[in-house]
Amino acid sequence: MAEAFIRTAMRADLDAVKHLLAETWHATYDPLIGAEKVGEITGRWHSREALESRLSAPNSEFLVADTGSGIAGMAFASQNGREITLHQLYVAPAHQGEGVGTKLVGELLTCFIGAETMRVEVASANANALAFYRACGFASDGSDPVTEETTGMDHVTLVLDIPEQHRWNAL
Ligand SMILES: CC(C)(COP(=O)(O)OP(=O)(O)OC[C@H]1O[C@@H](n2cnc3c(N)ncnc32)[C@H](O)[C@@H]1OP(=O)(O)O)[C@@H](O)C(=O)NCCC(=O)NCCS
Repeated sequence: MAEAFIRTAMRADLDAVKHLLAETWHATYDPLIGAEKVGEITGRWHSREALESRLSAPNSEFLVADTGSGIAGMAFASQNGREITLHQLYVAPAHQGEGVGTKLVGELLTCFIGAETMRVEVASANANALAFYRACGFASDGSDPVTEETTGMDHVTLVLDIPEQHRWNAL
């Protein structure tokens, strides 16, 4: 199987990313909130226009994992001061468990000068993602779960204290 190469997303990737998000959202969230609701949400949140706006969003990085024959994963994060917020991290079902998610997070850590923490909100019922983030070193920030309005799912907030050797304090 081809090693995925992590690079910045381009306009030409957006159809593949849209497809990846729809497939991965259905695989992940249909059992939790039903296929109809997932289809409605992913159609809106992951429209071409919504994705296109992320290509030029300020203080942000939009990455894809490119296998050479397709897009295996994507990540989108933005920086506010010393904190990175991880907004999206999705690996296609066929490529999960191959280290793609780890590579995407690792690459994001190199993208933001002065960042000390990375924050992510995860559906409390998404046990696989919770296990992944814990394996990456994320821990609960201690706050209570919050219900996300559109999906109706409870989310917990996890924070990674970025290890010193991964911080980019240059300039
Ligand atoms: C969660 C996700 C991003 C992880 O990416 P991935 O490429 O599959 O994960 P990796 O292969 O890099 O896994 C790294 C480590 O995380 C842990 N991990 C990953 N998936 C796991 C799972 N399903 N169950 C338990 N632990 C898991 C393991 O410790 C793994 O290390 P190992 O392979 O040496 O055992 C990916 O599976 C995914 O996109 N899932 C569906 C969408 C989703 O939930 N996204 C996150 C929304 S917040």
